[in-house]
Amino acid sequence: MDRKKFLKTCGVALVGLPFASALLTSCESIYYATNSVQNNTIVVPLSEFEILKKNKITYRTFVMVKTANQDFPICLYKTGENKYVASLMKCTHRGCELNVGGGIYSCPCHGSEFDTKGTVLEGPADLDLKTFKTNIKNENIYIQIS
Ligand code: FES
Repeated sequence: MDRKKFLKTCGVALVGLPFASALLTSCESIYYATNSVQNNTIVVPLSEFEILKKNKITYRTFVMVKTANQDFPICLYKTGENKYVASLMKCTHRGCELNVGGGIYSCPCHGSEFDTKGTVLEGPADLDLKTFKTNIKNENIYIQIS
C-alpha cells in the first residue's frame, strides 16, 4: 500500500471510530423476559437481567415484558439499585410502538422521545408514557398492571 492510500485509509478509520463506538453502546440487544401473570400482576424473575458469559455474570439494563393480553410490550428498565421503572411501549402521540436504545425510548412514527422513566424529552408527544408500579420481593419484580 502506498503512503497516500495508507493515510486515506487511516483517516476514514479515525473518523468512523467515534460513530462505531456510539452505535455499539446504543445497541444493547432486546431481550424478552420470561414472566408469569398473577391477578393483574406480571411477575418477572430478577435473574432475567442476568447474562452468563464465560462463567461470568453481567446484567442487562432493561428487559422487555410481553404477555398474551397486552397489545404493547412493557420495558422494565433498571434505573438504580433495586429500582425499576416499567413503561408501556406505546407512544402517547398516536400510539406507535416505541424503540429502545441509547438510554431513551424513541418513536419511529414522528420522532417523539422519552427517557427511561417515561418522561417526554421531545415532541410531538406531550404526555409522559404510561408507567406501572413495581416492587421487588422473593427475587422477583412485580409489575402491577391495574
Ligand atoms: S406516534 Fe409517536 S411521535 Fe407520533
